[in-house]
Amino acid sequence: MKVFESISALTQEIIQQKAAGKTIGFVPTMGALHDGHCSLVARSKKENDITVVSIFVNPTQFNDKNDLKNYPRTFEKDSSLLESFGADFIFHPSEQEMYPTQSTEVWDFGQLDKVMEGAHRPGHFNGVAIIVKKLFEIVKPHKAYFGLKDFQQVAIIKELVKKTQFPIEIVECPIIREPDGLAMSSRNMLLSPEARLHAANISKALFEAIQLSASMEVDELKKFVIETINADPMLLVEYFEIVDSLRLRSIKSWDEKCVKVGCVAVKLGNIRLIDNVTFPI
Ligand code: PAJ
Repeated sequence: MKVFESISALTQEIIQQKAAGKTIGFVPTMGALHDGHCSLVARSKKENDITVVSIFVNPTQFNDKNDLKNYPRTFEKDSSLLESFGADFIFHPSEQEMYPTQSTEVWDFGQLDKVMEGAHRPGHFNGVAIIVKKLFEIVKPHKAYFGLKDFQQVAIIKELVKKTQFPIEIVECPIIREPDGLAMSSRNMLLSPEARLHAANISKALFEAIQLSASMEVDELKKFVIETINADPMLLVEYFEIVDSLRLRSIKSWDEKCVKVGCVAVKLGNIRLIDNVTFPI
């Protein structure tokens, strides 16, 4: 496994690998790796000759300075984990390398970045689009792997690829959960042991919602999820929406012909977690 900090060194290596006929799979991350990230790496390894993993805590996608400051950075641990998983290249650039000048790029994804995370974290998806576009231009992968844990991010990335016409296949990977159901997240390691126990009530409410979707109307079910999570004094729902998976519009009835996804953001003190489930209706 090779670690690259400079764009030019990685670019050269990729050009050589492609010239030798190798296919490139790419897993962009912000580090503090867990089994969720590793599942993307494993999938990329299975489907490509070379797997590149980037580790870069991207400042432009943080709308909260404290969140950026507190974001876990565990590079030594991450690189040994990636070595054991058989990743080929790590790209670990500095902020100066990725942003030699301040970025002024502005993206508009229509409805996709106006709702849910887009509404509650202004500028977040603009920062995601800026960095992912830069990374795609550097790595030029055949396939790039994203987790459905960040369901709205996947929709944004697919739209980014449409807009830029990059010849990259976006591979959507399922959410990996802890044994108690909590969706794995780098932010979970910031939870106190007590908050960690309560965090499991988020997915518990979502799984209950799947069961109840057969007998409850959409609005009634939304109310149920919000009230069930908020009944735990350590949890506070920021939003819970049931949206159509393509346009991310809130649905009014189960009769609408689309795949329906329930997306939630919850605060536990100053830690914010997101999760989602797909309804089988
Ligand atoms: P990060 O939060 O590190 O996540 C990197 C990738 O891992 C994302 O595609 C995310 O959806 C996926 N992932 C995280 N937790 C997961 C889980 N429990 N199961 C499955 N996949 C999971 O997402 C980002 O970084 C950044 O926004 C990035 C795309 C790297 C741009 O900076």
